[in-house]
Amino acid sequence: MSGLRGKTVYLKTPHQNDVSGYIRHLWSDEETMRDVGGTHVMDDERALRWFTAWIEPGNDDRRYFLVVRKEDDVPVGEACFRSYVKNTGIATYGMKVEAKHRGNGYAREALELLLRFYFGTFGGQTMVDDIALENIRAQKMFIKFGFEHDPSVGKIMTSMGGDNVFWVRLNKGKFTQLYGL
Ligand SMILES: CC(C)(COP(=O)(O)OP(=O)(O)OC[C@H]1O[C@@H](n2cnc3c(N)ncnc32)[C@H](O)[C@@H]1OP(=O)(O)O)[C@@H](O)C(=O)NCCC(=O)NCCS
Repeated sequence: MSGLRGKTVYLKTPHQNDVSGYIRHLWSDEETMRDVGGTHVMDDERALRWFTAWIEPGNDDRRYFLVVRKEDDVPVGEACFRSYVKNTGIATYGMKVEAKHRGNGYAREALELLLRFYFGTFGGQTMVDDIALENIRAQKMFIKFGFEHDPSVGKIMTSMGGDNVFWVRLNKGKFTQLYGL
């Protein structure tokens, strides 16, 4: 794997028309959004606000990418991180693979690509994620990937899921050991 391109998917920064196109489609798909609290409806005004906050000009504490299948350039989901704090070097991960594209290994590959960027280029030290307690599929995926279940993260990330979620964490050292940088 090199840069933001893997074997079957690559990560792409969205254009403004992707927001009203693919991203709106992804967030309004009931099956895709079931494990993350339900659909998210975005009118044109919210789409513009989102694009300004995340992409152009964006914000130093976050990055967002579409996960695109290499074979035919079809987007299959999204991968991002947010709430990066320079002092601690910690950010929170987020991702969705569209329900109809699940089980093909896209999430695992996109996670590796995003973390390679985060640890190798962006300068992050630790990635955490707050996964819903009932979202067993995602919990298993992160643990299998190399993340550790660490409830103590909830104590420092109180503005997020707090204690009521399954916190996982992975630091740069362990990622490098497992996957190289
Ligand atoms: C979690 C999610 C991203 C996985 O996407 P995916 O593309 O299907 O995942 P992959 O195909 O890369 O599989 C990764 C692992 O997920 C698990 N998994 C995948 N499909 C599964 C299924 N149908 N049933 C149970 N577990 C499954 C497996 O552990 C798999 O690893 P393995 O095949 O090597 O054993 C996807 O289900 C999703 O978008 N869920 C809603 C959003 C979410 O939960 N995000 C994570 C929290 S930020």
